[in-house]
Amino acid sequence: NIPVITIDGPTASGKGTVAHKVADRLGFHLLDSGALYRLTALSALRRGTDLRDEHALAKVAEHLPVRFNGGHIYLGTEEVSNAIRQEEVGNTASKIAALPAVRQALYGLQLSFRETPGLVADGRDMGTVIFPGAQLKVFLTASVEARAQRRYKQLIDKGFSANMDDLLADLQARDARDTQRAVAPLVPAEGAHILDTSQMTADDAVEQVLAWYAH
Ligand code: CDP
Repeated sequence: NIPVITIDGPTASGKGTVAHKVADRLGFHLLDSGALYRLTALSALRRGTDLRDEHALAKVAEHLPVRFNGGHIYLGTEEVSNAIRQEEVGNTASKIAALPAVRQALYGLQLSFRETPGLVADGRDMGTVIFPGAQLKVFLTASVEARAQRRYKQLIDKGFSANMDDLLADLQARDARDTQRAVAPLVPAEGAHILDTSQMTADDAVEQVLAWYAH
């Protein structure tokens, strides 16, 4: 029984950073499930797929020529690690993630990340839908302001431009979509430990998750 730690939470809560560090510390594999929705969005935007066509979008998701290689993400031969972080791609990802057929199309791919010696899975529904039997479930959250600050810094560091008011509005719109959608809405999984990181560094959060896992 290969161990899984799920880390779910809202946009820009820091779960990506925390999941990455926890996986490193334990020598576990990492599933960045949000990247799969972003890759589907990027692929659909580039092909000009009709964003209202659920069936066509599910086909795109099902046939993603994706490859993960030591923190780098490839679509075919092209490295898209930065391209998928653009706001337009994130927004589109958040919209198509509400479509049941798209979620279904990415289900098997997500399960396949569970390999020895273990997996840290980062997303919205890792503990509720994809790995309900996980050994440890964490729900990572932070205030809207703290999350907007983090997202701002992330974008600037990647060389993108960013505007605080737009980011706040965008975060709130994304929270609303993630929590109110009919399929796999963002809620803490049963038995999840809730961790509010508004006043915490990523490293503090990592230590807390590792302490929970050890017990
Ligand atoms: O940066 P942000 O947290 O917004 O996004 P992400 O974790 O990279 O995921 C991109 C989008 O995919 C999110 O806005 C979610 O709506 C969606 N998503 C999802 O529905 N289920 C997951 N397991 C992961 C992401």
